[in-house]
Formats: sequence, structure tokens, C-alpha cells
Amino acid sequence: MNHDPSLLRSLAEKVGTPFWLYDASVIRQRIAAIKELTNVEGMQARYAMKACPATKILREMAQAGIWIDAVSGNEVLRALNAGHPAGNNPPAILFTSDVFRDNALDVVLQNNILPNVGSPGMLRDLQAAGYRGPVSIRVNPGFGHGHVNACDTGGPSSKHGIWFQHLAETVKAAEAAGMQVVMLHAHIGSGPQFQELHDNLARLAGEFAELLPQFAHVNAISLGGGIPHNYRDPSNQIPLVPLRDLFAQCREKLCAAAGRPLRLEIEPGRYYVAPSCTLVTRVADVKLTCTNEKGRGATFAMVDAGFVDLVRPAMYGSYHGIEIVGKNGDQPHEDIVIAGPLCESGDVFTRDESELLRPRELPRPEPGDLITIRDAGAYGYAMSSNYNSIGRAPQLWVEEDGSVEMISRRETLEDLLKAETAERVL
Ligand code: LLP
Repeated sequence: MNHDPSLLRSLAEKVGTPFWLYDASVIRQRIAAIKELTNVEGMQARYAMKACPATKILREMAQAGIWIDAVSGNEVLRALNAGHPAGNNPPAILFTSDVFRDNALDVVLQNNILPNVGSPGMLRDLQAAGYRGPVSIRVNPGFGHGHVNACDTGGPSSKHGIWFQHLAETVKAAEAAGMQVVMLHAHIGSGPQFQELHDNLARLAGEFAELLPQFAHVNAISLGGGIPHNYRDPSNQIPLVPLRDLFAQCREKLCAAAGRPLRLEIEPGRYYVAPSCTLVTRVADVKLTCTNEKGRGATFAMVDAGFVDLVRPAMYGSYHGIEIVGKNGDQPHEDIVIAGPLCESGDVFTRDESELLRPRELPRPEPGDLITIRDAGAYGYAMSSNYNSIGRAPQLWVEEDGSVEMISRRETLEDLLKAETAERVL
């Protein structure tokens, strides 16, 4: 998303840096694209809200009739608070996890949320809590992969879901405990390539078709999320149209295998929000290291955002487009490392998967320049932290009419200290 430099400068003046800037029109375009894909009889889209749980975005989803996939008790409560309905008929909010933590079990029970069970122990927890309703089962189908190994979502090394060969026992346990399995689910991740996504989804539907005869009460299948976003070349996104046909074929196959109509679901997270947000940061300094026997020297642009804001480059070596605001393509480019304020040498936005510096060809910035870090809407603010006691940066929202609203303010010391107590426990 290209923002007008003067808008960015005046926002930086008003709210300080760094800040997150969401663009309503981009989110709406992405919602419309997913709706286009799923506005077919028997298809339903969810939003995996872990990608960005801002109430403003959850409301957009509710208005568009997109259901929710939540991973914690508090995510369920945030979705309810934003206007998504409780209840399991229809299950507008799905709770998908491998573990019930904190308030999750209570929230699921109190609001009649459909639990998507990713570990057999969750059935024991539900039973012990007196639950006798419908359940969904998250399956590990033995294949699939994410964009990096750390996001591996299917196969022997993935912690997610119940291994497909152990399903029969799980179903027996559920039924013995008075719980009906009404949905089967898998999220296998996609990797960045269209063909792999396509093939994985088709293969997954085939596996579900084989499993279905064991499940007399299943009325829905979820193929999970994982529609990729092209971070390196934002103008070249994967085509969604062929997925529409693929989903129609998958659904047909699944309904035939079950001998009854089934709902087919998908639950992307990243796709809706990745391009909708820019992290705007200010250059505090530009400094150099020199080449010696240990390695090559580098030019470091020191900025005021760090991995407490956007952790993806530090955590996965993820690529995000970076621009120096107001410096155009005609200026000479050189290798620049963009690094943040944290007390960690890995606090660098330009690095690769093997944790090495990957300088970016950019015009040399000057102290005071603004820098934009693009496509930061998915797993950006959502994964931000309070490390180094800095406090989260504010989130701003540009409406289609050009007005800008602050949807969360900069965190203060009081926010950081709020949970500290001197309460005697023993
Ligand atoms: N459904 C389930 C059960 C999931 O676990 C996830 C993502 C999704 C849907 C949505 O996947 P998406 O469409 O967003 O790929 N922090 C990492 C991504 C972790 C994904 C976790 N699960 C990142 O920044 O790339």
C-alpha cells in the first residue's frame, strides 16, 4: 500500500513513531475476494483472527458474514465483543486449539462455542467439565507445510491436530463421552506457491472423503487457512479464481462420500490482512561497521521500531518490503541494514532464515527520515510484545474517505505495570 508521504509525516507528528497504519479499503478488497470465492451454496469462510485481532477488523468480518476461528478464550471473547454471535448452531465462532488454557474451557462452555479438538486430552477436559455437545476434530493428515519450518502444520513433526491413524480411537472416546463429532478440520499450511496450495487442498479433500464413512454425524469439513500472500512482489498475488472451482469439486466429492450435504469451510488469516497495514518508523541514526577478518562491514539505519513491534523478520527471516519515505527510485541505492532499538543483535528487519544479515538495496536514509515496513497486517501487531518494556505502538486506521482514527493507543508504563501485584499466594 502506497501512502502519501505528507500524510505519513503529519501522522508521525501527531502520534509519534513507530505506528501501524491500516488501510480500510485494502482489507475490504481482500474480504471481497474471499467472499467471491465462497459465496457458493454450502461454502463458508472464517477469519483466523490470530492474524490480527483488532476489534475494528473483527467488525468488518462480522458485517461481511465471515465466521471466526479463535485460538484462546480471550480471542472468543474479543469476537463476541465485536458482534460475532455465540452458539454452535451455526458455529459462527470455532475454538481451535491443542490445549485449553486459562479461561478457554469456561468460555467455550458458557457461550456454547464449537470446540475443535486438536489433542485427545481436550476430550477428557470437556468430559470432566460436563460437556455433552458437538465437537469438531482437528486432524493431522500426515502432510502439508508452512512458509518456513517453524510454521509446519501437518506431518510427523507437527504438534497440531490428532494423527489421522488415531482418529478411530478419538471418535470412540468422544461418542462414549456423549459428544458427537460434527466437523472434521485440518490446517496444513500452504507454502508460498499456488500449485502446492492447490495440490495440498485437493489431497486433503481426498483424505477426508476416505475418512468420512467413519463419521455418521459430520456435517462440515474445514480445509483450514493458508492462502499465501506474496510479500516479495505484492502486485503479483496468487490467483483465487481457480480455487473456486477446486472448492466446488472438493465439496462435491465430500458430499458424495458422506451421502449427505456438507458445509465446506476455509479459514484464512493472513490473506485478509497482510497487505492492509504498514509499520511506520523513524530513522534515528545511520552508522557503519568496517570490514575485518570476521566479515564484511555494513551500513546500519537505526530505526525506532524493533522486533517487539514486528517479529516476523527476526523470528522467521521473513521478507517485508521497505521504503524510505520521500526518497524515490532515482537516487543511488546501496546496501542498507535496517535495525531496531532492542538490546538484541537479532533486532534487524533485513535478515534471512539462517539469521544472517541480508542488507536491502535502498537510497541511504538520513536521521529523521520515515521508513515504511510493508505488508505488516498479518501476525504483525498480533505478535508484538512488551520485551524491553517499550510498550506497543499505536494502531491507526485510514478510512476510505481519508479520515484517520486511532484504534489502539501507544501503551504506557502504567499499562506495563498494571498486572504487577504484591499479592500473597502461600
Ligand atoms: N487455521 C488455523 C488452525 C491456524 O493455525 C492458522 C494459522 C490459520 C488458520 C491461518 O493461517 P494463514 O491463512 O494465516 O496462513 N506467525 C506466522 C504464521 C502462523 C500461522 C499459525 N496458524 C507468520 O507470521 O507467518
